Amino acid sequence: MVDLKGQYLKIKDEVDKGIMEVIETTSFIKGPAVQQFQTHLEDYLDVKHVIPCGNGTDALQVAMMALGLRPGDEIITTSFTFIATAEVIALLGLIPVLVDVNPDTYNIDPTAIRNAITDKTKAIVPVHLFGQSAPMEEIMDIAQEFSLFVIEDNAQAIGADYIFDDGGKKKIGTIGHMGCTSFFPSKNLGAYGDGGAIFTNDNQLAEQLRAVVNHGMKVRYYHDYVGVNSRLDSMQAAILDVKLKHLDEYCDARRKAADYYDNAFANCDKLKTPVRYEKSTHVFHQYTLVTNNVDREALKSFLAEKGIPMMVYYPVPLHMQKAYKSNRYSEGDFPITEALSENVISLPMHTELTTEQLEYITSNVLEFLNQ
Ligand SMILES: Cc1ncc(COP(=O)(O)O)c(C=O)c1O
Repeated sequence: MVDLKGQYLKIKDEVDKGIMEVIETTSFIKGPAVQQFQTHLEDYLDVKHVIPCGNGTDALQVAMMALGLRPGDEIITTSFTFIATAEVIALLGLIPVLVDVNPDTYNIDPTAIRNAITDKTKAIVPVHLFGQSAPMEEIMDIAQEFSLFVIEDNAQAIGADYIFDDGGKKKIGTIGHMGCTSFFPSKNLGAYGDGGAIFTNDNQLAEQLRAVVNHGMKVRYYHDYVGVNSRLDSMQAAILDVKLKHLDEYCDARRKAADYYDNAFANCDKLKTPVRYEKSTHVFHQYTLVTNNVDREALKSFLAEKGIPMMVYYPVPLHMQKAYKSNRYSEGDFPITEALSENVISLPMHTELTTEQLEYITSNVLEFLNQ
């Protein structure tokens, strides 16, 4: 699904140099490489504060910890996402309130958010799934109306722009009160291990977030909050700093591959190609199609025999996961999410896909579908 080796070879000298510098200075934790990457990411995103942390799941957890929520408070999020989004809500004793998504963009539906608001609702966590923005203006309007916090889960869409009604643009993840991202290796900006970050334009929240990731202390050994230990290590920061310079070029490469897939499948009535939301650029963390009357398992086996990977993100909606079963929901409650879970497929998507590879993948998919 990804080609991290091919990507590394193109930037090997820069990356190796960055790693060696960290080793030579032995500043493995909180070294200058972390500070440098933080500053460069703040500039790239045009956001006041980037708070690096251990991974994307921690980023979400720390963001929620900084809001001072109480057990039983409700957080509205999407039923169609990776588990981490809801996991941290549950872990903190908060209630994940799941809602359905838009069938075209797979992103959280603002009308469903509105219908799920109660007097216990404290925050909304939109996920920018597969590489494009959730409808942020509508979400921010709802948040303002009901005095809710918005934490953007931007693990999958770093680099994408949101385009406002007035034509202005902002990087996704910098529109809500906080944005969270993951630097998991396969992400669009991926480290060579774990990593994550929180973004905010709010000085007070930033101060709290920096304390929470560091055992809740602002001054050493004085703990103002219950915190965690969640750090981006210096080697990962050095690698990410190199890769950040290439992020826009990586996004372009992904979009080019997506264009190829779109064209190849344009006339295939068994596949619905990804709909590009007009208010967002798409950075194609995944290239995810909706199949129509296709035996996914048979397609997967057929492609596997040809050496082509295919994945299903995500096969089980959150409300149907064993650990998250609740009296609140039953099967059938989120028809769009459930239909997507049954019918989506994701094809290889990364920065190193060649025309030959894309031709090989698409012709084999079409061969299976036309047989
Ligand atoms: C939407 C979403 N949220 C959160 C995460 C968690 O990130 P991490 O794996 O770095 O903890 C991921 C990563 O897989 C993700 O895709």
